[in-house]
Amino acid sequence: MTDELSLLEKAALLSGASVWETRAIERAGIRALNLSDGPHGIRKQLGSGDHLGINASAKATCFPTAATVANSWDLDLAMQVGEALGAEAAALDVDVVLGPGLNIKRSPLCGRNFEYFSEDPYLSGKLAGAYVRGIQSQGVSACPKHFAANSQEHRRMASDSVVDERTLREIYLTAFEMVVREAAPKAIMSSYNKVNGEYAHESTHLLQDILRDEWGFDGAVVSDWGGSNDAVQAVKAGGTLEMPSPGLDSARQLLDAVAAGDLTEEQLDVRVAEIRVLVERIDPSLARAVDVEAHHALARRVAEASHVLLKNDDDLLPLASGTRIAVIGDFAETPRYQGAGSSLVNPTRLSSAVEAITASSLDLVTYAQGFRRTGGEDEALATEAVAAARDADVVLLYLGLDETSESEGNDRTHLELPHNQVVLLNRLRQATDRIVVVLSAGSVVEMPWIDDARAVLHGYLGGQAGAEATVAVLTGEVNPSGRLAETYPLHLEDNPSHAYYPGRAETAEYREGLYVGYRYYLTAHAPSLFPFGYGLSYTTFEYSDVAVDDAGITFTVTNTGAVAGAEVAQVYVGRSSTGVHRPVRELKGFRKVALEPGASVTVTVPFDEYTFRHYSASRGAWAVEAGRYWVGVGASVEDIRGEGTVEVAGETATMDGVAELPAYYSGQVAQVSDAEFAQLLGHPIPAVTTERRALGPNDPLLAMHQAPSPLARLAASVLRSLIARAERKGKPDLNLYFLYNMPFRAIGKMTNGAVSQEMVGSIVTLVNGRHLRGLGGLISGFGRNRRASRELEAQLAAASAATPERVSA
Ligand code: BGC
Repeated sequence: MTDELSLLEKAALLSGASVWETRAIERAGIRALNLSDGPHGIRKQLGSGDHLGINASAKATCFPTAATVANSWDLDLAMQVGEALGAEAAALDVDVVLGPGLNIKRSPLCGRNFEYFSEDPYLSGKLAGAYVRGIQSQGVSACPKHFAANSQEHRRMASDSVVDERTLREIYLTAFEMVVREAAPKAIMSSYNKVNGEYAHESTHLLQDILRDEWGFDGAVVSDWGGSNDAVQAVKAGGTLEMPSPGLDSARQLLDAVAAGDLTEEQLDVRVAEIRVLVERIDPSLARAVDVEAHHALARRVAEASHVLLKNDDDLLPLASGTRIAVIGDFAETPRYQGAGSSLVNPTRLSSAVEAITASSLDLVTYAQGFRRTGGEDEALATEAVAAARDADVVLLYLGLDETSESEGNDRTHLELPHNQVVLLNRLRQATDRIVVVLSAGSVVEMPWIDDARAVLHGYLGGQAGAEATVAVLTGEVNPSGRLAETYPLHLEDNPSHAYYPGRAETAEYREGLYVGYRYYLTAHAPSLFPFGYGLSYTTFEYSDVAVDDAGITFTVTNTGAVAGAEVAQVYVGRSSTGVHRPVRELKGFRKVALEPGASVTVTVPFDEYTFRHYSASRGAWAVEAGRYWVGVGASVEDIRGEGTVEVAGETATMDGVAELPAYYSGQVAQVSDAEFAQLLGHPIPAVTTERRALGPNDPLLAMHQAPSPLARLAASVLRSLIARAERKGKPDLNLYFLYNMPFRAIGKMTNGAVSQEMVGSIVTLVNGRHLRGLGGLISGFGRNRRASRELEAQLAAASAATPERVSA
C-alpha cells in the first residue's frame, strides 16, 4: 500500500507541513489535511498560523466551553454540539477538529479546567464520546485530547506525571477508554507531558499496549503542538503525526535511524498507513452550508441547560415580569463567555446581559459597571452601583473571573473572586438584601461571600449566547437543570491535591491517588461548599420504587412541583464488603429526565463493564471483586434518594496492602508520606532538584533560573517579569506563557525547520555557560541545517514529480 512512496516521502509524511497542515503526496492520492482547534468552536486561522489564538480566525459559533456543557449532563445536547462543530469544520475545509478536551480536573487550579468536562471519568467519557460521535457524523475527524494525565499547565511541556498504574487507569485513562470504545475517534492527541518518565507521544505503554492493543484504537495519534520529542522513538511507540512542522528535521532523523538499523522501514510503514487511513476516513463531500442562526440557537439551548442554580433563598428566582432590575457588574456589559488560549473562537454573534435584559420582560432600571474588571478599588463606580441598587426591586450582580484568571498555559494560584468584586457585593448588601449573583467563570470559585447573596446562578462560560440563556433562567422561561460536574470546596486548601499541586520541579506527583474530587471529600468525610452533582431547580423531584437487581437499578422520578423541569438522576456505586481500597462511592450512570408538573417516569440504568471493576496493579489487569456492592440513586453525590445492594460474582477479594497503605484505605490523602506513595507506585519516587545545574534540551525555559550561565538566569527573570507585566495589564500573554513553560527542544519543533535539534543542542550549551562553543555550534549548525533541508526538499520535489515507480531516498 505504501510501496509507491520513497523512504523520504514516508518519513516526511509523519510531521506537519505547516502550523495546521499535514503534507500532501498528491501522486499517491494523499492530500494535505487541515487540523484546527478546537473544543467549543472552530478556530480556522485565516492569515499566518499560530497555535495560541493570537492571530485572527474565521467566524464560527462559540458554544459554551466543555466545563459548561458538562453541567448539562445531557448526552443528546453534547452530540448536537459535536454535530454543529463537525458541520462548521467541514464548511471551513477543516478535516480534523482538535477536541474535545477530556483531561480530569485533578485540581480546581488547573488553568485549562474551563476546557475540560469534569473531575469524574465516567461523566467526562460519556460527554466526550457524544461530542466525538457528533463531530465525526459530519465526515470530519475528532481528535480527543490530551492523552494522558495532563492536569497542570505549569511546565506543561516539561513535566512528568508520576502516577500509580491503578490511578492512571481508573481516573485518568477511563474517559479516553470510553471514547475510544464507544465513539471510535479517527485521531487522538497525545499530551505534552511525560507519564511515569516517558513522553506521552513516545510511550509504548500508552500508545501501543493500552490505546491500540487493549482498546482497539486504529486511528492516528497526533502530537500536541510541539509536544513530540524523539521522532524515532515516537514511530516505534505508536506516535503517528508530529505537529506543527519541524521542517524536515524529524524526517532526517527517521532516515538516519533507518540507515543505522535502529528503525525498520516496516515500522515506518505502520505509521504511514495510519496517515493514509486518516485521509481516507475523512469525507469532505458531506460539507454543506452552515445555518448560523440555528447554531446560535443551539448554543443558547446548551447554555440554558447548563446553568447551575446554586442558591435561591425564599424563591427569589424566577423574577416576575416587570420586576424593576438594577444590573451591576462589568461582566453584564462585556461578557466573559470563553477562555483564553488555543480554544479562542471568533464568534458569529455575541449577546450581552444588558442587551438580553433590555429585550426581556424585566424592567431594566439602571446598569452600573460597579467595579474595574481587572481589580483595584474604584469609589466612583461603587457609589454609582449602590445608588442603582437602592432604586430597584432586585439587583442582578454579574461577578466573575476576568480574562487573566483562567488561561491556557497558566495555572491559577487561588480560587477567590477579585477582591474589589467581593467588597462591592458587601456594600450592595448594606443597601438591599435582594441580590442575585450571576457568576461567569470556567471553574470553581470559593464563596465566603455567599451569605450576602439571596440567590446565586452560575453560568460558567456560556458561549456566544450565554447571556441570553442566563436571562431565560432568571425569568423562569427556562427552569435551571444544570448540575455541578465538579466539587466546590469550601477552601482551596481542602482539595486533596493541594499539597502536591502543581508539581513545581520536574515531576507532578499524583499522591492523592484515586481520591480526586468527590471521591476524596466523601471518603475522607471532608465537607464541601457544593457537592458534585448539585444544582437547584424551580420545581421539586421525588424518587420512588428504587430497585436494584443483577442488571441495574430501576427507579421512578416524579415532578412534585408546579412547573416543568428536568432532573439529573445520578447512579453511584460503592463496595459494601471489604476489599482493595476504593472511594466510598463513584458515579456509574446517570439519566436526565424532563417532566411536566405531576408527571413521572420510570428509568432503568443498566450496569456496564465499568460498574464494578477496579484495576488490579498486582495482576496488571482489570478485575471485579466478588461480594456485595452498594448502589444508590440521587440528586447529587451527597443527596442519595434510594439505594440497594447487589451480590456480584468475581475474584476473591483481598485487603492487599492495608497495613502499608493506611492513607489510601482511609481516604486521608491530603498528606501522604514519601514511603506510602512509593509503596503505592511500586518504585521509589523520582528525585527532583531545584539547585543550580547543567540543563538539557528537555528542560523548560523557566529552568534557566537554575542555569549555570548568568545570562540565561537573567533571560529567565526577564521572561518572568514580562509575564507579570502582561498580567498586571489584564491581558495574559499566551506566547510568553508558552515560552516560559516550553522545553528548549520545542524551539526546533515549533519553527518550521529553521532550528534543527542539533542547533537546540548548541543553545543548551550556551545556557550552560559555554558561550563560545554554543555560539559556534549554533552558527555552523545553521548552515548545516539549511543545506540539508534544501537537499531534502529538492529530493521530495523530485519524488513528487516522478512517476509512481519507487524512488529511493
Ligand atoms: C494545545 C492544544 C491545541 C494545540 C493547537 C496546544 O498548545 O495544548 O490543545 O489543540 O495547541 O492549537
